This record gives sequence, C-alpha cells and structure tokens, in this order.
Amino acid sequence: MLEDMSRFLINVDGLNVVIRKVCKKDLDKIKNLIDSCFSNWHAYYAKRGLKNHEVYVAEVCNDVVGFIEFKVVNIGIDVGHIYYMCVRRDFRGRGIGRRLVEYCENVFKSRDVSAIIATTQEYNIPVINLFKKLGYLIVDWYTAYRILKNIGANIEDEYDLMWKIYDYDDLVLLKVLKQPS
Ligand SMILES: CC(C)(COP(=O)(O)OP(=O)(O)OC[C@H]1O[C@@H](n2cnc3c(N)ncnc32)[C@H](O)[C@@H]1OP(=O)(O)O)[C@@H](O)C(=O)NCCC(=O)NCCS
Repeated sequence: MLEDMSRFLINVDGLNVVIRKVCKKDLDKIKNLIDSCFSNWHAYYAKRGLKNHEVYVAEVCNDVVGFIEFKVVNIGIDVGHIYYMCVRRDFRGRGIGRRLVEYCENVFKSRDVSAIIATTQEYNIPVINLFKKLGYLIVDWYTAYRILKNIGANIEDEYDLMWKIYDYDDLVLLKVLKQPS
C-alpha cells in the first residue's frame, strides 16, 4: 500500500517490509551494515554517501535490514544516480534489494528524470542480475556516454561522465526513461 513517497509498506516473501526515508537513529545500524558488506575502500565511500545522498532503508520488525543511496544529478538532463545499496546477508534473496531499487525508480520518475544510472564491478553477479531483471542495459562507460549524449546530456566524453556522476566502477547499469522531445 502506497502511503506517500516517504514510506511504503509491502509484503515481500511473507515478510512485512517498510521502505522509508532514513532518520538519525538508523545511522549506526547502517554503518554496521556497511562494515559487514563492503571492503574498507567501498565502506569509506558508502559512509560518505550517507551525508550527500538521499537514503532509504528497508525495515523488518523495526530493524534496518537494507538501504539504498541515490541522488539526481544534472548533466544537461536530469539523471538519477543509484550509489551504494546493501541488504543484510540473512535477508538476501527474498526480493528486498529489488524492492529498494524499484522504490528508488519511483522517486526518480516522480522527479521526471531522463535516465537512471548505477555502476558495479564485473564480478558482482547479484547486482548485475538484479538490474538486468529490471530492464537496465549493462554497458561500458563509453557506451553509457554515447547513449546519454544522444538523449541530450551535456558531457564531453566517458571520463567527463564519470567525473560528473562521481562514480568509477567497471560496469554501468543504465535505463533510459525519456527520449528528447
Ligand atoms: C545486491 C543485493 C543488494 C541484492 O539484494 P537481495 O535482496 O538479495 O536481492 P533480491 O532478492 O531482490 O534479488 C533480485 C534479483 O537479483 C538477482 N540476485 C540476487 N541475489 C543473487 C545471487 N546471489 N546470485 C545471482 N543473482 C542474484 C536475481 O536476479 C534476483 O531475482 P530472482 O530472485 O527473481 O532470481 C545484495 O546481494 C547485497 O547486499 N550485496 C552486497 C552489497 C553489494 O554488492 N551492493 C551493491 C554494490 S553498491
């Protein structure tokens, strides 16, 4: 049932999951989750992302079991950028990650973005499969640059795109929502 854009209650695999905006009391739990999921390098950036991104959490029985970080970046067109996300190990494989991404997509759609971009490493099969299933193209940075340029992005090349999005992983996960009018 959709309550408003900041809180969403769903039943996922028999679990009542609330997806909602992060609040201050969640931060320690999210940081612990980050430490248990990511290498030091990624943990540093994921924690930094908490400060300069919008963050939504997935909560089961008042416990945070996942989060997603995102923001809208203007590169001549508005692009929704999904940054770090994670689901607690004992809750993986039950559809929570997919619901977090879908929730994020709805926020982006409500803000009329032209495309959604995320990145990952070639070995991260769960992420690649998740985004493929949701209709994302899995491409290299040059291809992402070409596609975004074709829909009106003001970017010089793939390095400019990386710099403006501020994300540098190997593979780009890209979904175009709007063609130029
Ligand atoms: C990526 C991640 C968030 C997925 O969360 P999840 O709740 O387990 O994902 P879901 O249950 O919603 O799965 C959705 C789809 O993703 C794919 N997927 C999920 N886990 C998978 C796995 N272990 N192997 C292969 N595909 C997988 C499947 O296509 C799945 O659809 P299906 O169940 O219908 O086959 C989770 O694995 C995670 O937290 N990983 C560690 C952190 C990370 O790598 N984050 C991404 C980089 S920022």
